[in-house]
Amino acid sequence: MSITKSAVLKALSYVDDPDLKKDLVSLKMIDNIQIEGKKVAFTLILTTPACPMKEQIKGACVTAIKHFVDKEAEVNIEVTSQVTTKRQGTSKVLPNVKNIIAVASGKGGVGKSTVSVNLALALAKTGANVGLLDADIYGPSIPMMMDLEGRRPEIAVVNGKHRIMPVEQYGIKTLSIGFLAEASQAVVWRGPMASSALRQFITEAEWGDLDYLIIDLPPGTGDIHLTLVQTAPVTGAVVVTTPQDIAKADVVKAINMFAIPQINVPVLGIVENMSWFSPPELPDKKYYLFGKEGGRKLAADYQLPLLAELPIVESIRVGGDKGKPVVLQQQEAIAEAYLSLAQMTAQQVAIRNAAQAPTETVKITT
Ligand SMILES: Nc1ncnc2c1ncn2[C@@H]1O[C@H](COP(=O)(O)OP(=O)(O)OP(=O)(O)O)[C@@H](O)[C@H]1O
Ligand SMILES: [Mg+2]
Repeated sequence: MSITKSAVLKALSYVDDPDLKKDLVSLKMIDNIQIEGKKVAFTLILTTPACPMKEQIKGACVTAIKHFVDKEAEVNIEVTSQVTTKRQGTSKVLPNVKNIIAVASGKGGVGKSTVSVNLALALAKTGANVGLLDADIYGPSIPMMMDLEGRRPEIAVVNGKHRIMPVEQYGIKTLSIGFLAEASQAVVWRGPMASSALRQFITEAEWGDLDYLIIDLPPGTGDIHLTLVQTAPVTGAVVVTTPQDIAKADVVKAINMFAIPQINVPVLGIVENMSWFSPPELPDKKYYLFGKEGGRKLAADYQLPLLAELPIVESIRVGGDKGKPVVLQQQEAIAEAYLSLAQMTAQQVAIRNAAQAPTETVKITT
């Protein structure tokens, strides 16, 4: 019997997306089915190019077609992706940015900026369009980490309006308050001035079409966080912690802040940074310098995904200091850990978009 498109579609309707828990056909993830004798070809449209389930889903499709349609079928799957969004038409702010991801922590120095930079570049590596906004008005570190010190964003006239053009580096678009003020002046960017600078970077910058805009937040839970959630609907937050208890207490504050009903930004998951140290000459030995598994416990307590446990590695710091993020360095094994973090984060974004209502910007009534 010859293979038909409808038989293939029927078979694929038995395959569920493991994250979204619905079948691929209802999710409109199957396109362009072509049949020629025993050859079956189609396009599988994933929710992100960083999908960690890619091979698993492909395998399940092949199994379903062989099982339900023809065991001799030769299946050829082309994989593309269309990053999902909950934002289409919901807001005039950043209308072409599909997902806004804030990287936060209640505590300073835990590695938010390092995670932001490497996460942004890892997402871009998978093929996504990515932007990186440094919202750390008081201590911007993105210019150094991205080797952009001294750069100034250009101003262009777009549709008759003056717009700030993000600076392109390593395949992503970047803006930082550090582009406007020298590091020594940054301390004068207080209160309203700092908030207004951040607002401008969101509403008056030409970010263009992005799948993910990563926002590196300052430590704490202060004005800048409020400005952000009032200005842009944040898809979700990635919360960074180190393993020790004192860090956890601050991090809990950040988690609670996002959960306040008026703010209501879903936390996509926890990143435990500086989890352990393995001396290069003893790669199998793990020293838990800052305690053990605090991030894992925190994630379990708050029923949040643990997106990554990142060890202390000298090349991570050196990469940051030299403006060559470690995720770009192929010979560094740790780059893989950031790629996995990017996959996990993109996966959580897709799940969030499938399951929850869009985030609203916070309206302040006084
Ligand atoms: N996993 C890691 N291994 C080694 N060094 C790291 C790691 N993560 C971060 N660092 C280093 O720790 C320092 C602090 O990191 P980073 O600036 O990313 O933290 P932060 O949370 O953004 O700090 P701040 O609160 O000041 O904004 C940097 O020198 C960075 O290179
Ligand atoms: Mg920082």
